[in-house]
Amino acid sequence: MKKELKIPRIKNGTVIDHITAGNAIKVLHILGIPKTSTFVVSVAMNVKSRMGKKDIVKVENREIDPKEVDKIALIAPKATINIIRDYEVAEKYLVKLPDEIIGIVSCSNPTCVSNSREPVKSRFKVICKDPLRIICYYCEREPEDISERII
Ligand SMILES: Nc1ncnc2c1ncn2[C@@H]1O[C@H](COP(=O)(O)OP(=O)(O)OP(=O)(O)O)[C@@H](O)[C@H]1O
Ligand SMILES: [Mg+2]
Ligand SMILES: [Zn+2]
Repeated sequence: MKKELKIPRIKNGTVIDHITAGNAIKVLHILGIPKTSTFVVSVAMNVKSRMGKKDIVKVENREIDPKEVDKIALIAPKATINIIRDYEVAEKYLVKLPDEIIGIVSCSNPTCVSNSREPVKSRFKVICKDPLRIICYYCEREPEDISERII
């Protein structure tokens, strides 16, 4: 039997699959949808999968950029990025958490040097990957809700 898709097939674009259930909204936010992007997007939430539930986001006619992939890794560490070309999965890769997170999360400490007028990029050390915990390289403050602090 042919696999049934919850969302119609797309010709070209990106499928972000295996998103932590409930986090599709945050992925849309990272992609700038709907604020700065008018691409056609389909979302499926709480879809049954091999390991419990997941969310899926499909964006037509847009291939995702590496900076967005790094942000998605923070809120959906098991996500796969599938680049669709002519209806087929042309490329597939897993998002990856780096050991250091530079320039994509802001420090929650208002007096941190990374929040001053100095041109210092925010920088965090990953101290635990699952569940994700990070501390500021400069002031060692740990943000309470990482997803709220994605720049
Ligand atoms: N043309 C398409 N349009 C929309 N979605 C697609 C298209 N082709 C594949 N997908 C979706 O992209 C995801 C990855 O497709 P793939 O065929 O690699 O599935 P898979 O073998 O289940 O992969 P995985 O092991 O990563 O779950 C699936 O969610 C699939 O439904
Ligand atoms: Mg699958
Ligand atoms: Zn700091």
